Order: sequence, then C-alpha cells, then structure tokens
Amino acid sequence: MKRVGFVGWRGMVGSVLMQRMREENDFDLIEPIFFSTSQAGGVAPEIGRDVPPLKNAFDTNALRGMDIIISCQGGDYTNEIFGKLRTAGWNGYWIDAASTLRMQDDAVIVLDPVNRPVIEKALRRGVQNFIGGNCTVSLMLMAVGGLFEHDQVEWASIMTYQAASGAGAQNMRELLTQMGQTYQVAKDLLENPASNILDIDRQVSQKLRDHDFPVENFGVPLAGSLIPWIDREIAHGQSREEWKGQAETNKILDHTVSPVPIDGICVRVGAMRCHSQALTIKLKRDVPLDEVDEMISTANDWVRIIPNEREITTKELTPVAVNGKLDIHVGRIRKLNMGGKYLSAFTVGDQLLWGAAEPLRRMMRMIVT
Ligand code: HSE
Repeated sequence: MKRVGFVGWRGMVGSVLMQRMREENDFDLIEPIFFSTSQAGGVAPEIGRDVPPLKNAFDTNALRGMDIIISCQGGDYTNEIFGKLRTAGWNGYWIDAASTLRMQDDAVIVLDPVNRPVIEKALRRGVQNFIGGNCTVSLMLMAVGGLFEHDQVEWASIMTYQAASGAGAQNMRELLTQMGQTYQVAKDLLENPASNILDIDRQVSQKLRDHDFPVENFGVPLAGSLIPWIDREIAHGQSREEWKGQAETNKILDHTVSPVPIDGICVRVGAMRCHSQALTIKLKRDVPLDEVDEMISTANDWVRIIPNEREITTKELTPVAVNGKLDIHVGRIRKLNMGGKYLSAFTVGDQLLWGAAEPLRRMMRMIVT
C-alpha cells in the first residue's frame, strides 16, 4: 500500500477532503500518515481505523518516507517545503490544492472528468506534480467542458459571482456577522408593518458604511453589496483571478500552443460556498441548441442541465440548490441576439467540492489503483 502523507487536513478544504475520502472509502486503499505544522505528536483525525500520531510537517526526513503527499496547507507551505524535498531527492507524487506550482512546466492541473487523457499521458512520462485548479476554472470546465471537448469554443467571456468560501473560512464567518448586524439595525422597523421602507434602507445603509462595521477580512462590506475585484492586479487592470480563466483552462486542456481566449470580470457576492458564472460563448459554428445540450450533458456524470424556464431556473440554478453537492448545474442556455454562434449559459457549482477537494482525492486514486 502506498504511504500517503496529508498536510493541511484540518482547514476548510482539508476537512472537505477528509469527509469525501471517508465517504468514498479512500483510506482503505492507502496507508495514511497525518502531518501538522503546529501539533506534531498530537492525535490524528478519526478515519475509522488506528493511525499513528501527527508527524511534523516541516520534517523533510519524515516527508521523504511518503509515496504521495497531499497538501491543503496553502502556498506558503508549498513554497517552503516542496523545493527542499525535491532537492533532497524525494521522487514521490506531490498533490496540492495551492496555486504555487500550477503553471510550472513539470506540473499538471488535475480535473480528471475533463482532462483524464492529459493526466494519464503525464503519469506515463513520469510527471510527479499534480495540482488542483482554480475553483472558478474547474467549475466552469465541469459545466461546459463538453463544448471544449468538441472543439466548439472560439472564445468565452465569463462573469463570475463567487462565494465567500473562496476567500477563506474567516470570510464566511465575516459575511454572516455582517448579515446579522445589518438585520439587527433594521429589526425594530421591520417588525412594524407601518414603517417606511426608505427609513429602513437609510438605517441599513448607514450601518454598512459605519466605521465599526466588521470588514477585517473582506476590507469592505459584502452583505448588502458585492466586490467586483478578486485577488491582486496582474496587469492592464486585469485581476489574477481573471487571468487564471484563460491561463488555467488552456493548461488543463493542454491547449497552450493555440489557447482559446477567455476573459471576464470576477466578482465576490454574498453566497456561502457556490461559485456561479454567467458565460457568453462564441461558438465556432452555429451549433443547434439540442446539440449543445447533448455535448454539455454527456461530458461527465455530474453536470445537470436546468431547462431554460423561469420556475425551475429560480429553484435549481442557485447556490442554495447546489451547496454541499457534487452536482454541477448549467442553465440559461440560449442563443443571444448577436447571432447563432453566440451562446449564453449560467453555471453553479460548489467551490469546496469540484472546485477544491474532489480533484485531489481522485488524483490520488488514479495513482494508487
Ligand atoms: N480564488 C478563488 C476565490 C478560490 O477567491 O474565490 C480558490 O480557487
């Protein structure tokens, strides 16, 4: 059995990974060893069988004993440890949720329902670094990967509606605190049916702008608002999150020689853990909608087309409907006024599942089975 070391299993992505691995009995296939950056010697997580105490995640000798290391510890840890391990001659498989190594030539971005042949080819030629993709990119490809697979996409513009979880656990808490404080300030007026809605709005607005409003993590209010910028600026006014759309999509698909242009605006909204995306796709030809549906729905086992009708769309094509599920919902599929080659679609996916944890455990399975 392969010895698999886990680092960062206690954080939000790591916890979802542990939960999914227990659900799928992945631990039966491996010898798991848990590492900690702060509590070496402590008790390992409950996985239904005895495992040794936590090892020190900075102990390169202990790490070198692993056949596979799965890290959800974040980019700083990868920066500190990965190079040292490889320099020390470690030639195991490194599977990582962080973006640090994603675009390197000796790394493959893993999303096996979309790029299994790319991963298999890489395994055959001895690639050892397998990195999870940006959540927005992975969720977009799980949704409309069928159109890329059939080489129908000339370009895509993607406008995102990204959940608080993408910014971290503390941000999710802050969003809820912001929502709670916003409600509290309006509570008395809300309970009085005779109160004036403009008075309520004035109080809420004042609260959101109050210098005491809790914004330590987001920097600005998200409740009752949105934030049309995610991550730092790369160049020419494009954010790093927006840059990843084209860079990572084409790397996942192994299209880096003639990349499909992809761009848009990435926006944070007050959803908990589902990223939604509004797509405008220029197709290479005027593909009939029933063919579009067929390409999208047969691409993987998790994509589900929501008919472009009001009632089902408002119920099913939402973060509330998809939260905590592996299903990827795609709807609002129609041709735009610009012409038969212009397609719209709207997708919703859980950013902690297919957007983060799921591709990692599946990559591990591809190695050990
Ligand atoms: N960068 C993403 C976000 C999450 O901020 O929503 C991680 O891929």
